Amino acid sequence: METTNATRRRGRPRKNVSKHEQRLMTAILNSNVTIGVVGLGYVGLPIALEFAMKGFDVVGVDVSEEKIKALQGGKNYIQDLSNDDVRTVVKKTKRLTATTSFKALSKCDVIYICVPTPFTPNKDPDISHIVNATQGIAETLHAGQLIILKSTTFPGTTEKYVQPILDATKFKVGRDYFLAFSPERIDPGNTTWTTKNTPVVVGGVTKACTDLAVAVNKHIIAEVVPVSSPAVAEMEKLLENIFRSVNIALVNELAQLCDRIGVNIWEVVEAASTKPFGFMPFYPGPGIGGHCILIDPYYLAWMAREKDFVTNFITLAAEVNESMPFYVRSMIEREVAKQPVTLEKAKILLLGMAFKRDVDDLRHSPALKVAELLIEDGMQNISYFDPYVPTVRVHDAVWESRRTLTPAFLAKQDVVVITTDHSSFDIDMIVRYSKVVIDTRNATKHIKGARKNIVLLGDGK
Ligand SMILES: NC(=O)c1ccc[n+]([C@@H]2O[C@H](COP(=O)([O-])OP(=O)(O)OC[C@H]3O[C@@H](n4cnc5c(N)ncnc54)[C@H](O)[C@@H]3O)[C@@H](O)[C@H]2O)c1
Repeated sequence: METTNATRRRGRPRKNVSKHEQRLMTAILNSNVTIGVVGLGYVGLPIALEFAMKGFDVVGVDVSEEKIKALQGGKNYIQDLSNDDVRTVVKKTKRLTATTSFKALSKCDVIYICVPTPFTPNKDPDISHIVNATQGIAETLHAGQLIILKSTTFPGTTEKYVQPILDATKFKVGRDYFLAFSPERIDPGNTTWTTKNTPVVVGGVTKACTDLAVAVNKHIIAEVVPVSSPAVAEMEKLLENIFRSVNIALVNELAQLCDRIGVNIWEVVEAASTKPFGFMPFYPGPGIGGHCILIDPYYLAWMAREKDFVTNFITLAAEVNESMPFYVRSMIEREVAKQPVTLEKAKILLLGMAFKRDVDDLRHSPALKVAELLIEDGMQNISYFDPYVPTVRVHDAVWESRRTLTPAFLAKQDVVVITTDHSSFDIDMIVRYSKVVIDTRNATKHIKGARKNIVLLGDGK
C-alpha cells in the first residue's frame, strides 16, 4: 500500500527513525548546523540575523545583486534591524555570508525559503518565486537537509508544488530530506512583538519534518506550535490575515455610513472597546496595503474558485478595502470644490506615503493609490512629505519627498491630507497652518476645541 503524507505524519511513535533524521536532530540540538536563508527581505534578513547573532553560520541567498552587495559590505537595509548587528555578523564574527549563488546552499543543513508571493495583474497567486527558489535548492539537495517554507501561500503549496520538485531528486521526504511550512508573523515597525517573542506555527510533511522544524525554530523563537500538516499551517496564516482584512473592511464600511449620519466612527470603536470580552478594535483608514493583508486573501479566493466555492467574505472585504482610496479621493475633491481653485491648479499635500505608520514599506500603499487617482483626475500640483520614503514612482513619474514641512509651505496648500500617521509628524503645526486637513487616520484626535479646518474620515462633520 502506498504511504501517503497524511499517514506518515500521524502522531504515533515512529519505529523507523532514519539516520539522517537522527543526525540532523542531534546537530540541531547541539547548535551545530549551518542555516541557509533564501530571500533576504523583510522576513528573511531578520531570520538570518537572529541565527547569526546566536552564533550559527548562516548563508543568505538572494537574486537581488543590490541587496547582496549591501550585505557583503556589512550594510543593513531593513528598517527594524540594527545596523551595528548586521555589520557585526558580516564583518566581525563573519557568521553571515551573502551570495546570489544557490550553490552555497550545499553546505547548509537547514534552509528557510522567504521569497515574495505576489499576485498577477488579475489577482491570481504568483508562486513563481517559490518554485524558482525550490529549483535552486534542488540542484544541491542532499540527504540530511531540512527545508522550511516561510512565504505566505495557499494550502497545498508545500506538498503539491515544493515537494514534487525536491522529490524529483533521488531523495525521499521524511527519510532523506525534510520539508515543513512555518508561516511568518513578523510585523514590521512593531517593537513589542518581534521575531523572538512571537510564537510560530510549524507543519511538516511527516512527523520527522515537524519535529526537526520545531527544534530548529526554537533556537530563535520562544514558542513553536506544531500542527498536523503543512496545509493546516498554510491555512492558519491565511485565516490570520483574512481575519484582519474582513474586520478592517467592516469598520471601513461603517466609517462611510458614519460620514452620512454624522456619527464619529472612531469614538464608536473606542466605546465598543470598553467591552472586556468578545470585541477587538479595528480602525478605518484610507485602505489597506503592505505585502500581506491585501494580497493573501486573494490566494485563498483563487483556490476556492478551483473547488467551485465562492469566498464571499473575502471578496466583499477586498471590495470595501480597495474602494477606500477612491473614497479619500472624493473627500479631497469635495474640499477642493469648496475653494476658488480648479482641480488642475489645486495644491494638494499628502502626508505619508508608506502603507502604515513609522515604516518605509510602500508596497500596495493606499497613499500611493490616492496619488495615482488624483493624477488620473488631472491634478497637477500634488506633493508629498514622508521622512521614510525619499522618492516614489507615481505612474511614470518619480516624485521626491519634501525635505521638511514648514508652516509657510502648509499655508500655501489648498488641501493637506494625512494619509499615514507617522509618529514624527507635528500634527499641531499641521492643523494650525493648513487651510484644510483631511485626516484619514484620526491623527488629530488629541486636538480639542475648534477643529473647523479638520475633515475626519468617518465622522461626517
Ligand atoms: N513583510 C512582512 O511583513 C511579512 C509578514 C509575514 C509574512 N510575509 C510573507 O513572507 C514572504 C516574503 O515577504 P518579504 O516581505 O520578506 O518580501 P521581500 O520582497 O521583502 O523579500 C523577498 C526577497 O526575496 C528575493 N527573491 C525573490 N525571488 C527569489 C529567488 N527565486 N531566489 C532568491 N531570492 C529571491 C527578493 O529579491 C527579496 O529580496 C511573502 O510570502 C510574504 O507574504 C511577509
